Amino acid sequence: MTKDVNQEEIVSLAKRRGFIFQASEIYGGLAGFWDYGPLGVELLNNIKKEWWDAFVHDQENIFGIDGAIIQNPKLWEASGHVEGFTDPLVDCKNCGSRHRADHLAGTDSTNLSELKEILKEVVCPTCGKKTLTEPRKFNMMMKTWVGPLEDESSVAYLRPETAGSIFTNYLNVKDTMRAKLPFGIAQIGKAFRNEISPRDFIFRVRELEQMEMQYFIKSSDQQIEYDKWRQFAWDFLINKLGIKEANLQWHEHDESERAHYASAAHDIYFKFPQGFKELWGTHNRTDFDLTNHMKGSGKDLQYFDEVTKEKYIPYVIESSVGLGRMLLAVLTDAYQIDEVNGENRAVLKIKSSLAPVKIAVFPLLKNKPELIVKAREVYEVLKDKYGAVMWDDNGNIGKRYRRQDEIGTPKCITIDFQTLEDDTVTVRDRDTTKQTRIKITDL
Ligand code: GAP
Repeated sequence: MTKDVNQEEIVSLAKRRGFIFQASEIYGGLAGFWDYGPLGVELLNNIKKEWWDAFVHDQENIFGIDGAIIQNPKLWEASGHVEGFTDPLVDCKNCGSRHRADHLAGTDSTNLSELKEILKEVVCPTCGKKTLTEPRKFNMMMKTWVGPLEDESSVAYLRPETAGSIFTNYLNVKDTMRAKLPFGIAQIGKAFRNEISPRDFIFRVRELEQMEMQYFIKSSDQQIEYDKWRQFAWDFLINKLGIKEANLQWHEHDESERAHYASAAHDIYFKFPQGFKELWGTHNRTDFDLTNHMKGSGKDLQYFDEVTKEKYIPYVIESSVGLGRMLLAVLTDAYQIDEVNGENRAVLKIKSSLAPVKIAVFPLLKNKPELIVKAREVYEVLKDKYGAVMWDDNGNIGKRYRRQDEIGTPKCITIDFQTLEDDTVTVRDRDTTKQTRIKITDL
Protein backbone atom coordinates (compact mmCIF):
# COMPACT_ATOMS: atom_id res chain seq x y z
CA MET A 1 0.00 0.00 0.00
CA THR A 2 1.45 3.41 -0.93
CA LYS A 3 0.20 7.00 -0.59
CA ASP A 4 0.96 10.24 -2.46
CA VAL A 5 3.64 12.42 -0.88
CA ASN A 6 3.18 16.05 0.01
CA GLN A 7 5.68 18.86 -0.48
CA GLU A 8 6.74 18.96 3.20
CA GLU A 9 7.82 15.31 3.02
CA ILE A 10 9.98 15.98 -0.04
CA VAL A 11 11.49 19.13 1.49
CA SER A 12 12.20 17.27 4.71
CA LEU A 13 13.76 14.28 2.91
CA ALA A 14 15.89 16.61 0.78
CA LYS A 15 17.29 18.44 3.80
CA ARG A 16 17.55 15.47 6.20
CA ARG A 17 19.40 13.24 3.75
CA GLY A 18 21.66 15.83 2.12
CA PHE A 19 19.97 16.37 -1.25
CA ILE A 20 19.11 20.08 -1.11
CA PHE A 21 19.86 22.92 1.32
CA GLN A 22 18.79 26.54 1.35
CA ALA A 23 21.52 28.70 -0.20
CA SER A 24 23.41 30.61 2.54
CA GLU A 25 21.14 28.98 5.09
CA ILE A 26 23.17 30.17 8.09
CA TYR A 27 22.32 33.75 7.04
CA GLY A 28 18.63 33.01 6.69
CA GLY A 29 18.78 31.92 3.01
CA LEU A 30 17.87 33.92 -0.07
CA ALA A 31 14.51 33.42 -1.78
CA GLY A 32 14.79 31.45 -5.01
CA PHE A 33 18.32 30.10 -4.47
CA TRP A 34 19.23 26.56 -3.40
CA ASP A 35 22.36 24.48 -2.90
CA TYR A 36 22.61 20.81 -3.78
CA GLY A 37 24.24 18.62 -1.11
CA PRO A 38 26.29 15.41 -1.45
CA LEU A 39 23.40 13.22 -2.60
CA GLY A 40 21.69 15.98 -4.57
CA VAL A 41 24.72 16.61 -6.73
CA GLU A 42 25.05 12.88 -7.48
CA LEU A 43 21.41 12.75 -8.53
CA LEU A 44 21.80 15.89 -10.66
CA ASN A 45 24.87 14.43 -12.37
CA ASN A 46 23.09 11.13 -13.04
CA ILE A 47 20.10 12.94 -14.59
CA LYS A 48 22.42 15.12 -16.69
CA LYS A 49 24.24 12.02 -17.89
CA GLU A 50 20.97 10.37 -19.01
CA TRP A 51 19.94 13.54 -20.84
CA TRP A 52 23.35 14.07 -22.47
CA ASP A 53 23.48 10.43 -23.59
CA ALA A 54 19.99 10.60 -25.07
CA PHE A 55 20.36 14.01 -26.74
CA VAL A 56 24.04 13.98 -27.75
CA HIS A 57 25.88 10.65 -27.49
CA ASP A 58 23.05 8.53 -28.89
CA GLN A 59 22.50 10.94 -31.79
CA GLU A 60 24.58 11.23 -34.91
CA ASN A 61 23.74 14.84 -35.68
CA ILE A 62 23.42 16.63 -32.32
CA PHE A 63 26.47 18.42 -30.94
CA GLY A 64 27.10 19.72 -27.45
CA ILE A 65 28.42 23.12 -26.43
CA ASP A 66 29.06 24.93 -23.15
CA GLY A 67 28.54 28.65 -23.67
CA ALA A 68 29.31 31.58 -21.36
CA ILE A 69 26.63 32.76 -18.94
CA ILE A 70 27.29 36.38 -19.87
CA GLN A 71 27.14 37.25 -23.55
CA ASN A 72 27.18 40.47 -25.52
CA PRO A 73 23.92 42.25 -24.47
CA LYS A 74 23.10 42.72 -28.17
CA LEU A 75 22.26 39.01 -28.20
CA TRP A 76 19.35 39.61 -25.80
CA GLU A 77 18.19 42.66 -27.71
CA ALA A 78 18.03 40.66 -30.93
CA SER A 79 16.38 37.67 -29.26
CA GLY A 80 13.59 39.91 -27.95
CA HIS A 81 14.37 39.25 -24.29
CA VAL A 82 15.20 42.88 -23.40
CA GLU A 83 11.79 43.88 -24.70
CA GLY A 84 9.66 40.80 -24.20
CA PHE A 85 10.98 38.53 -21.42
CA THR A 86 8.43 39.70 -18.91
CA ASP A 87 5.94 38.44 -16.38
CA PRO A 88 2.82 40.38 -15.40
CA LEU A 89 3.16 42.00 -11.99
CA VAL A 90 0.92 43.84 -9.53
CA ASP A 91 2.06 45.94 -6.57
CA CYS A 92 0.05 46.53 -3.43
CA LYS A 93 -0.30 50.26 -2.74
CA ASN A 94 -0.95 49.56 0.93
CA CYS A 95 1.78 47.12 2.01
CA GLY A 96 4.21 47.37 -0.91
CA SER A 97 4.21 43.61 -1.65
CA ARG A 98 4.55 42.36 -5.24
CA HIS A 99 2.74 39.45 -6.84
CA ARG A 100 2.56 37.57 -10.16
CA ALA A 101 -0.69 38.84 -11.66
CA ASP A 102 -1.41 35.58 -13.53
CA HIS A 103 -0.90 33.50 -10.38
CA LEU A 104 -3.26 35.77 -8.41
CA ALA A 105 -5.81 35.59 -11.20
CA GLY A 106 -5.47 31.78 -11.35
CA THR A 107 -4.85 31.74 -15.11
CA ASP A 108 -2.05 30.86 -17.53
CA SER A 109 -2.79 33.98 -19.58
CA THR A 110 -0.33 36.86 -19.49
CA ASN A 111 -2.59 39.25 -21.40
CA LEU A 112 -2.67 42.50 -19.38
CA SER A 113 -6.24 43.57 -20.18
CA GLU A 114 -7.62 40.08 -19.41
CA LEU A 115 -5.72 40.09 -16.10
CA LYS A 116 -6.91 43.59 -15.24
CA GLU A 117 -10.51 42.46 -15.67
CA ILE A 118 -10.07 39.33 -13.50
CA LEU A 119 -8.15 41.16 -10.75
CA LYS A 120 -10.64 44.04 -10.34
CA GLU A 121 -12.17 42.58 -7.19
CA VAL A 122 -9.12 40.70 -5.90
CA VAL A 123 -7.51 41.67 -2.59
CA CYS A 124 -3.78 41.68 -1.81
CA PRO A 125 -2.84 38.21 -0.45
CA THR A 126 -0.36 39.82 1.97
CA CYS A 127 -2.47 42.52 3.70
CA GLY A 128 -5.98 41.62 2.56
CA LYS A 129 -6.76 45.12 1.18
CA LYS A 130 -8.23 45.89 -2.23
CA THR A 131 -5.28 48.09 -3.12
CA LEU A 132 -3.59 46.28 -6.01
CA THR A 133 -2.24 48.32 -8.93
CA GLU A 134 -3.16 47.47 -12.51
CA PRO A 135 -0.98 44.67 -13.91
CA ARG A 136 2.18 45.76 -15.71
CA LYS A 137 5.10 43.98 -17.35
CA PHE A 138 8.21 43.19 -15.33
CA ASN A 139 11.45 42.18 -17.08
CA MET A 140 12.95 39.09 -15.43
CA MET A 141 16.51 39.34 -16.72
CA MET A 142 19.18 39.82 -14.06
CA LYS A 143 21.60 42.65 -14.79
CA THR A 144 25.24 43.15 -13.97
CA TRP A 145 28.11 45.34 -15.17
CA VAL A 146 31.14 44.17 -17.07
CA GLY A 147 34.37 46.11 -16.51
CA PRO A 148 35.23 48.89 -14.07
CA LEU A 149 32.40 51.30 -14.96
CA GLU A 150 28.93 50.82 -13.53
CA ASP A 151 26.93 52.73 -16.12
CA GLU A 152 24.51 52.00 -18.97
CA SER A 153 27.38 51.29 -21.40
CA SER A 154 28.65 48.36 -19.29
CA VAL A 155 25.31 46.68 -18.53
CA ALA A 156 25.20 42.94 -19.29
CA TYR A 157 22.68 40.24 -18.47
CA LEU A 158 22.97 36.86 -16.82
CA ARG A 159 21.46 34.62 -19.49
CA PRO A 160 17.73 33.94 -18.97
CA GLU A 161 17.90 30.78 -21.11
CA THR A 162 20.80 28.72 -22.41
CA ALA A 163 19.38 28.80 -25.94
CA GLY A 164 20.92 32.24 -26.66
CA SER A 165 24.49 31.02 -27.15
CA ILE A 166 23.23 28.03 -29.12
CA PHE A 167 21.85 30.41 -31.76
CA THR A 168 24.99 32.56 -31.81
CA ASN A 169 27.11 29.41 -32.26
CA TYR A 170 24.93 28.01 -35.03
CA LEU A 171 27.48 28.91 -37.74
CA ASN A 172 30.51 27.83 -35.68
CA VAL A 173 29.05 24.41 -34.99
CA LYS A 174 27.72 23.94 -38.52
CA ASP A 175 31.10 24.80 -40.04
CA THR A 176 33.41 23.00 -37.58
CA MET A 177 31.29 19.83 -37.48
CA ARG A 178 30.51 19.98 -41.21
CA ALA A 179 26.88 19.58 -40.20
CA LYS A 180 24.05 19.31 -42.69
CA LEU A 181 20.42 20.07 -41.91
CA PRO A 182 18.73 18.70 -39.90
CA PHE A 183 21.15 18.94 -36.99
CA GLY A 184 20.96 19.96 -33.37
CA ILE A 185 22.98 21.79 -30.73
CA ALA A 186 22.57 20.84 -27.07
CA GLN A 187 23.65 22.57 -23.91
CA ILE A 188 23.34 22.12 -20.15
CA GLY A 189 23.96 25.17 -17.99
CA LYS A 190 22.82 27.79 -15.54
CA ALA A 191 20.23 30.44 -16.34
CA PHE A 192 18.93 33.27 -14.17
CA ARG A 193 15.47 34.77 -13.83
CA ASN A 194 14.41 37.44 -11.40
CA GLU A 195 11.15 35.61 -10.66
CA ILE A 196 8.61 37.82 -8.89
CA SER A 197 7.49 35.02 -6.64
CA PRO A 198 9.88 32.07 -6.38
CA ARG A 199 7.93 29.26 -4.79
CA ASP A 200 7.22 25.61 -4.18
CA PHE A 201 10.71 24.64 -3.03
CA ILE A 202 12.94 24.20 -6.13
CA PHE A 203 10.01 24.33 -8.57
CA ARG A 204 10.32 28.05 -9.33
CA VAL A 205 13.77 29.43 -8.60
CA ARG A 206 15.86 32.44 -9.60
CA GLU A 207 19.03 30.51 -10.44
CA LEU A 208 18.24 27.41 -12.45
CA GLU A 209 19.99 24.93 -14.67
CA GLN A 210 18.53 24.15 -18.06
CA MET A 211 19.01 21.29 -20.48
CA GLU A 212 18.18 22.60 -23.93
CA MET A 213 18.46 21.37 -27.48
CA GLN A 214 17.76 23.40 -30.61
CA TYR A 215 17.10 21.35 -33.72
CA PHE A 216 17.75 23.22 -36.98
CA ILE A 217 15.48 22.11 -39.78
CA LYS A 218 13.91 23.01 -43.10
CA SER A 219 10.61 24.85 -42.53
CA SER A 220 8.67 22.15 -44.40
CA ASP A 221 9.65 19.64 -41.68
CA GLN A 222 8.41 21.73 -38.76
CA GLN A 223 5.32 19.69 -37.88
CA ILE A 224 7.00 16.31 -38.13
CA GLU A 225 10.05 17.40 -36.09
CA TYR A 226 7.91 19.19 -33.51
CA ASP A 227 5.83 16.05 -32.93
CA LYS A 228 8.96 13.89 -32.88
CA TRP A 229 10.78 15.93 -30.21
CA ARG A 230 7.84 16.35 -27.90
CA GLN A 231 7.27 12.60 -27.98
CA PHE A 232 11.00 12.07 -27.43
CA ALA A 233 10.79 14.08 -24.20
CA TRP A 234 7.76 12.09 -23.01
CA ASP A 235 9.50 8.77 -23.72
CA PHE A 236 12.70 9.96 -22.04
CA LEU A 237 10.83 10.69 -18.80
CA ILE A 238 9.28 7.23 -18.76
CA ASN A 239 12.13 5.09 -20.09
CA LYS A 240 15.24 6.87 -18.87
CA LEU A 241 14.01 8.41 -15.63
CA GLY A 242 11.43 5.77 -14.74
CA ILE A 243 8.64 8.32 -14.20
CA LYS A 244 5.14 6.85 -14.12
CA GLU A 245 3.07 7.75 -17.17
CA ALA A 246 0.06 8.40 -14.92
CA ASN A 247 2.00 11.36 -13.45
CA LEU A 248 2.38 13.05 -16.85
CA GLN A 249 0.01 15.17 -18.92
CA TRP A 250 0.20 17.22 -22.11
CA HIS A 251 -0.55 20.93 -22.02
CA GLU A 252 -0.75 22.85 -25.27
CA HIS A 253 -0.15 26.60 -24.99
CA ASP A 254 -2.77 28.92 -26.40
CA GLU A 255 -1.68 32.20 -27.93
CA SER A 256 -1.89 34.20 -24.69
CA GLU A 257 0.54 31.82 -22.95
CA ARG A 258 3.19 31.37 -25.63
CA ALA A 259 6.63 32.98 -25.28
CA HIS A 260 7.39 35.82 -27.69
CA TYR A 261 9.53 33.54 -29.91
CA ALA A 262 7.19 30.54 -30.26
CA SER A 263 4.55 29.74 -32.87
CA ALA A 264 3.57 26.53 -31.05
CA ALA A 265 4.38 25.10 -27.62
CA HIS A 266 3.53 21.87 -25.83
CA ASP A 267 4.49 21.39 -22.21
CA ILE A 268 4.70 18.11 -20.42
CA TYR A 269 3.08 18.62 -17.04
CA PHE A 270 4.13 16.48 -14.09
CA LYS A 271 2.02 15.76 -11.01
CA PHE A 272 4.05 17.74 -8.45
CA PRO A 273 2.79 17.75 -4.84
CA GLN A 274 0.94 21.04 -5.62
CA GLY A 275 -0.76 19.53 -8.70
CA PHE A 276 0.01 19.07 -12.41
CA LYS A 277 2.55 21.76 -13.43
CA GLU A 278 4.99 22.46 -16.26
CA LEU A 279 8.05 20.26 -16.39
CA TRP A 280 9.34 20.26 -19.99
CA GLY A 281 8.60 22.45 -23.00
CA THR A 282 8.85 21.76 -26.72
CA HIS A 283 8.60 24.93 -28.80
CA ASN A 284 8.48 25.73 -32.46
CA ARG A 285 10.72 28.83 -32.58
CA THR A 286 10.39 29.05 -36.37
CA ASP A 287 13.12 31.22 -37.96
CA PHE A 288 12.52 33.90 -35.31
CA ASP A 289 15.91 33.69 -33.59
CA LEU A 290 18.22 33.24 -36.57
CA THR A 291 16.37 35.97 -38.52
CA ASN A 292 16.78 38.40 -35.64
CA HIS A 293 20.43 37.48 -35.02
CA MET A 294 21.09 37.93 -38.71
CA LYS A 295 19.60 41.43 -38.51
CA GLY A 296 21.30 42.21 -35.19
CA SER A 297 24.79 40.99 -36.11
CA GLY A 298 24.85 41.63 -39.83
CA LYS A 299 26.17 38.07 -40.36
CA ASP A 300 24.63 35.84 -43.01
CA LEU A 301 23.02 32.95 -41.11
CA GLN A 302 21.26 31.43 -44.10
CA TYR A 303 21.77 27.79 -44.95
CA PHE A 304 22.77 26.73 -48.41
CA ASP A 305 21.20 23.44 -49.38
CA GLU A 306 23.70 21.76 -51.70
CA VAL A 307 21.11 19.35 -53.08
CA THR A 308 18.29 21.76 -53.93
CA LYS A 309 20.60 24.79 -54.31
CA GLU A 310 18.19 26.77 -52.11
CA LYS A 311 19.29 29.35 -49.52
CA TYR A 312 17.08 29.84 -46.49
CA ILE A 313 17.04 30.53 -42.75
CA PRO A 314 16.51 27.26 -40.87
CA TYR A 315 13.56 26.76 -38.55
CA VAL A 316 14.19 25.61 -35.00
CA ILE A 317 12.40 23.10 -32.80
CA GLU A 318 13.45 23.54 -29.19
CA SER A 319 13.39 21.01 -26.36
CA SER A 320 13.85 22.75 -23.00
CA VAL A 321 13.69 21.47 -19.45
CA GLY A 322 14.86 22.65 -16.03
CA LEU A 323 17.25 20.24 -14.34
CA GLY A 324 16.16 21.12 -10.78
CA ARG A 325 12.52 20.73 -11.74
CA MET A 326 13.34 17.38 -13.27
CA LEU A 327 15.11 16.29 -10.07
CA LEU A 328 12.06 17.38 -8.08
CA ALA A 329 9.85 15.30 -10.39
CA VAL A 330 12.13 12.27 -9.95
CA LEU A 331 12.04 12.58 -6.14
CA THR A 332 8.28 13.13 -6.07
CA ASP A 333 7.59 10.23 -8.41
CA ALA A 334 9.87 7.79 -6.57
CA TYR A 335 9.26 8.66 -2.92
CA GLN A 336 6.73 6.36 -1.28
CA ILE A 337 5.62 5.23 2.11
CA ASP A 338 4.93 1.51 1.86
CA GLU A 339 4.37 -1.23 4.40
CA VAL A 340 6.96 -3.86 5.25
CA ASN A 341 6.10 -6.51 7.88
CA GLY A 342 3.28 -4.35 9.22
CA GLU A 343 5.50 -1.25 9.54
CA ASN A 344 5.59 1.90 7.45
CA ARG A 345 8.81 2.56 5.62
CA ALA A 346 9.85 5.52 3.47
CA VAL A 347 11.53 4.43 0.26
CA LEU A 348 12.84 6.15 -2.84
CA LYS A 349 12.04 3.75 -5.68
CA ILE A 350 14.37 5.41 -8.10
CA LYS A 351 16.01 3.75 -11.13
CA SER A 352 19.42 2.26 -10.27
CA SER A 353 21.05 4.40 -12.95
CA LEU A 354 19.87 7.53 -11.09
CA ALA A 355 20.49 6.38 -7.51
CA PRO A 356 23.05 8.63 -5.78
CA VAL A 357 24.43 5.60 -3.93
CA LYS A 358 24.46 2.29 -5.79
CA ILE A 359 25.52 -0.06 -3.00
CA ALA A 360 25.84 0.23 0.78
CA VAL A 361 28.19 -2.07 2.69
CA PHE A 362 27.56 -2.94 6.35
CA PRO A 363 29.57 -4.94 8.85
CA LEU A 364 26.93 -6.61 11.03
CA LEU A 365 28.57 -5.30 14.22
CA LYS A 366 30.80 -2.29 14.66
CA ASN A 367 32.79 -3.68 17.58
CA LYS A 368 34.01 -6.94 15.99
CA PRO A 369 37.38 -6.22 14.28
CA GLU A 370 37.24 -9.43 12.21
CA LEU A 371 33.91 -8.32 10.67
CA ILE A 372 35.21 -4.81 10.04
CA VAL A 373 38.35 -6.08 8.27
CA LYS A 374 36.33 -8.36 5.99
CA ALA A 375 33.71 -5.68 5.31
CA ARG A 376 36.39 -3.10 4.44
CA GLU A 377 37.84 -5.57 1.91
CA VAL A 378 34.44 -5.96 0.23
CA TYR A 379 33.77 -2.21 0.39
CA GLU A 380 37.10 -1.32 -1.22
CA VAL A 381 36.69 -3.77 -4.10
CA LEU A 382 33.18 -2.49 -4.84
CA LYS A 383 34.13 1.16 -4.38
CA ASP A 384 36.93 0.71 -6.87
CA LYS A 385 34.54 -0.78 -9.36
CA TYR A 386 31.35 1.28 -8.88
CA GLY A 387 32.43 4.51 -7.14
CA ALA A 388 29.12 5.45 -5.56
CA VAL A 389 29.38 2.92 -2.72
CA MET A 390 28.66 3.88 0.89
CA TRP A 391 30.06 2.46 4.12
CA ASP A 392 27.69 2.38 7.10
CA ASP A 393 28.39 0.76 10.46
CA ASN A 394 26.12 3.00 12.53
CA GLY A 395 23.09 1.67 14.44
CA ASN A 396 21.29 -1.63 14.03
CA ILE A 397 20.92 -3.24 10.62
CA GLY A 398 17.20 -2.41 10.41
CA LYS A 399 17.93 1.30 10.83
CA ARG A 400 20.72 1.13 8.25
CA TYR A 401 18.35 -0.47 5.72
CA ARG A 402 15.78 2.28 6.39
CA ARG A 403 18.36 5.02 5.83
CA GLN A 404 19.44 3.49 2.52
CA ASP A 405 15.83 2.88 1.43
CA GLU A 406 15.09 6.56 1.91
CA ILE A 407 17.92 7.66 -0.39
CA GLY A 408 17.11 4.99 -2.97
CA THR A 409 20.16 2.70 -2.63
CA PRO A 410 19.29 -0.38 -4.74
CA LYS A 411 21.43 -2.95 -2.86
CA CYS A 412 22.72 -3.31 0.71
CA ILE A 413 25.43 -5.87 1.45
CA THR A 414 25.95 -7.20 4.97
CA ILE A 415 29.07 -8.95 6.18
CA ASP A 416 28.16 -11.25 9.10
CA PHE A 417 29.69 -14.16 11.01
CA GLN A 418 28.83 -16.64 8.27
CA THR A 419 30.94 -14.50 5.89
CA LEU A 420 34.00 -15.35 7.97
CA GLU A 421 33.29 -19.06 7.48
CA ASP A 422 32.22 -19.35 3.83
CA ASP A 423 32.96 -16.00 2.14
CA THR A 424 29.28 -15.31 1.44
CA VAL A 425 27.38 -12.09 2.19
CA THR A 426 23.73 -11.13 2.21
CA VAL A 427 22.50 -8.85 -0.56
CA ARG A 428 19.28 -7.09 0.27
CA ASP A 429 17.08 -5.63 -2.46
CA ARG A 430 15.54 -2.20 -1.80
CA ASP A 431 12.21 -2.82 -3.55
CA THR A 432 11.39 -6.35 -2.44
CA THR A 433 13.40 -6.15 0.86
CA LYS A 434 14.40 -9.79 0.11
CA GLN A 435 17.86 -10.94 1.16
CA THR A 436 19.89 -13.46 -0.78
CA ARG A 437 23.18 -14.98 0.24
CA ILE A 438 25.86 -14.98 -2.40
CA LYS A 439 29.61 -15.52 -2.66
CA ILE A 440 31.79 -12.41 -2.49
CA THR A 441 33.43 -13.42 -5.76
CA ASP A 442 29.98 -13.37 -7.44
CA LEU A 443 29.08 -9.86 -6.25
N1 GAP B 1 14.50 28.30 -23.97
C1 GAP B 1 13.13 28.15 -23.67
C2 GAP B 1 12.80 28.37 -22.29
O1 GAP B 1 13.63 28.79 -21.50
P1 GAP B 1 10.84 28.17 -20.59
O2 GAP B 1 9.50 27.54 -20.74
O3 GAP B 1 10.89 29.57 -20.10
O4 GAP B 1 11.53 28.04 -22.01
C3 GAP B 1 12.03 25.94 -20.01
O5 GAP B 1 11.74 27.27 -19.67
C4 GAP B 1 12.05 25.06 -18.80
O6 GAP B 1 12.93 25.59 -17.81
C5 GAP B 1 10.69 24.97 -18.08
O7 GAP B 1 9.88 23.99 -18.69
C6 GAP B 1 11.13 24.56 -16.68
O8 GAP B 1 11.41 23.18 -16.61
C7 GAP B 1 12.43 25.33 -16.51
N2 GAP B 1 12.21 26.61 -15.80
C8 GAP B 1 11.84 27.78 -16.32
N3 GAP B 1 11.77 28.74 -15.38
C9 GAP B 1 12.11 28.16 -14.22
C10 GAP B 1 12.26 28.61 -12.88
N4 GAP B 1 12.06 29.86 -12.55
N5 GAP B 1 12.61 27.71 -11.93
C11 GAP B 1 12.85 26.41 -12.27
N6 GAP B 1 12.75 25.93 -13.51
C12 GAP B 1 12.39 26.78 -14.49
